[in-house]
Amino acid sequence: MSRVTVTVTVSFLAFFISLVAVSGDVIRLPSQASKFFRKAENDDGDDSPAGNKWAVLVAGSSGYWNYRHQADVCHAYQLLRKGGVKEDNIVVFMYDDIAKNKENPRPGIIINSPNGDDVYNGVPKDYTGKDVNVGNLFAVILGNKTALKGGSAKVVNSGPNDHIFIYYSDHGGPGVLGMPTSPYLYANDLNDVLKKKHASGTYKSLVFYLEACESGSIFEGLLPEDLNIYATTASNAEESSWGTYCPGDDPSLPSEYETCLGDLYSVSWMEDSDKHNLQTESLHQQYELVKKRTAGSDSSYGSHVMEFGDVGLSKEKLVLYMGTNPDNENVTFVDENSLKLPLRVTNQRDADLVHFWDKYQKAPEGSARKAEAQKQVLEAMSHRLHVDNSVQLIGELLFGILEGPSVRAFESHCGSLSQYGIKHMRSIANICNAGIKMEQMEEAAMQACPTIPAGSWSSLHRGFSA
Ligand SMILES: *[C@@H]1O[C@H](CO)[C@@H](O)[C@H](O)[C@H]1NC(C)=O
Ligand SMILES: *[C@@H]1O[C@H](CO)[C@@H](O)[C@H](O)[C@H]1NC(C)=O
Repeated sequence: MSRVTVTVTVSFLAFFISLVAVSGDVIRLPSQASKFFRKAENDDGDDSPAGNKWAVLVAGSSGYWNYRHQADVCHAYQLLRKGGVKEDNIVVFMYDDIAKNKENPRPGIIINSPNGDDVYNGVPKDYTGKDVNVGNLFAVILGNKTALKGGSAKVVNSGPNDHIFIYYSDHGGPGVLGMPTSPYLYANDLNDVLKKKHASGTYKSLVFYLEACESGSIFEGLLPEDLNIYATTASNAEESSWGTYCPGDDPSLPSEYETCLGDLYSVSWMEDSDKHNLQTESLHQQYELVKKRTAGSDSSYGSHVMEFGDVGLSKEKLVLYMGTNPDNENVTFVDENSLKLPLRVTNQRDADLVHFWDKYQKAPEGSARKAEAQKQVLEAMSHRLHVDNSVQLIGELLFGILEGPSVRAFESHCGSLSQYGIKHMRSIANICNAGIKMEQMEEAAMQACPTIPAGSWSSLHRGFSA
């Protein structure tokens, strides 16, 4: 792996400084009623008065060990379709490397719970593979077809009376969400796109459900309260979110599965929506329920589900965003519903290790599969050690001798932070905030990482995280 020339812009550094500046603030949530758009002047009459529903569903990862994110998104698609949302109005981003993956014990099928039905069948391949990227996601949300590169050309072509639902499931870190392609998705950029969408007057209200580690950091202090946007996140700005239905969990998986099938916050809202009449259940009622389930039954796991933006919108019924399944028309919302708390779940960041470890344990003694799994466990572990140690060392070098850097300079010398390493974004931001210059970060990264490790986790072939 050859060294890569580093080019870092001042604005990049400024971004990290702003990231740190907001991370300490806690947004105060109003319970005031939402302010709606004034009717657009040149309403061409195409929008039904009740408004159309639109949805954007995003699985931000790839790889079989991340099975659960694409399973979550497929499940969300089925849920919306059963609710009556039109296929043309649901835009799906998924890498699409799970159903036909050689590790998948049920070829062509994806499930999102131990006894769940196939959720893959019929899911449109709007944006798959390398087309799952930040540029296309923003173009889709903004309804800008000319900005698209590849994919089905489906965009959110919404009008002023419409309701938009965005659901995203992936890894994250402070101020950042993963993508299976480079670059990752940054909180500032995402909030800017939401502001632009609002300014274009092409929705009445928008709901954003976000599953990722540190997902609260994407909206905390960044999402204004006057955009008619209500967001909930799987975790606060400083904690992990949790995978569920993992090998070794209770309830147990079919034994042939060696990977987590879902994420806790995600299956909590979807299993709730699956069984209720969404004409009678409000966003707020769902929030309370999901919060309770995602918090876990004791202190050993779980995360704090948060809400941001125009919290007044949460009194609206879910049907506006998700439709409702006619089969549930007689099921009214009841607070004490029967959602079962899982007894054990897996930290999102450890779900890859759980997969490799389970594969290792189940493979026959002496088999090639066992050797491969062992190699994967060791590679994943050594990548983590490398990232942890080099971030720490760089901090010491910079604060001890000089002061700091950028992610790109780090990655040029130390290899990709990857899905695990993005948890260190906050450390790197702190280093930036201390006013450290690029050349100093360069120097420190070079000293901390004389060579880029060769394992599959650290290669730069997928590009930089930032
Ligand atoms: C749509 O995207 C193109 C290409 O990126 C850009 O030039 C144009 O300004 C965008 N249009 C709108 C309305 O934002
Ligand atoms: C709901 O209840 C009504 C009245 O009892 C009944 O006619 C209808 O078939 C029920 N719907 C479902 C989906 O069970």
